[in-house]
Amino acid sequence: MAHRVCPSWLGYILICPLRRWSDNPVEILAGRVRPGMTVLEPGPGMGFFTLDLLRMVGTSGRVVAVDVQARMLERLKRRADKAGLLAALDARLVSPDSMGLGDYASLVDFTLAFAVVHEFPDVGGFFAEVAAASKAGASLLLAEPKGHVTSTHFEAELKAAFEHGFTLQDRPSIRRSHAALLKKG
Ligand SMILES: C[S@@+](CC[C@H](N)C(=O)[O-])C[C@H]1O[C@@H](n2cnc3c(N)ncnc32)[C@H](O)[C@@H]1O
Repeated sequence: MAHRVCPSWLGYILICPLRRWSDNPVEILAGRVRPGMTVLEPGPGMGFFTLDLLRMVGTSGRVVAVDVQARMLERLKRRADKAGLLAALDARLVSPDSMGLGDYASLVDFTLAFAVVHEFPDVGGFFAEVAAASKAGASLLLAEPKGHVTSTHFEAELKAAFEHGFTLQDRPSIRRSHAALLKKG
């Protein structure tokens, strides 16, 4: 699969409130994110999920949002600021080959990787970095759009996750997405 990065104009469409009909962040994240948690969100785009993540972790928690596109992060930060949620956001511009998470080693409680792993040039490297940043027992919710990612490709992503120490906990049902809940260790 080609590793084409989502264009920034699509970022505006991805934050459209109508999307909540198929991908409702509150329903998808319910019971997985609690106040005080450290959450990693690779590829947040303009933050369709990020604002709900920030509300869920509260002022004692943190959301680390890493993206390769400055325009996505600028819009995300503006939206978080407008919603009064900026203080708990660590938004980072990173390169495609590293999320630069060395300072979060073994600190992350939960990772949301929604519609993003197929854009990474090295899927094994992605899971290695998430594993290194995650606490023992931390969760990773992996979801990929069925329109872009075949079942075979999704299974290959899962295999890469297993090779980096994740185990399968559940196959949640998310409309229009392949999805898996994974656990470190
Ligand atoms: C299809 S968008 C999904 C955005 C968001 N997760 C959502 O569901 O609305 C993919 C995002 O991942 C980012 N991305 C692509 N490759 C990346 C990489 N190697 N590291 C971090 N972010 C990346 C893109 O810039 C884009 O913002």
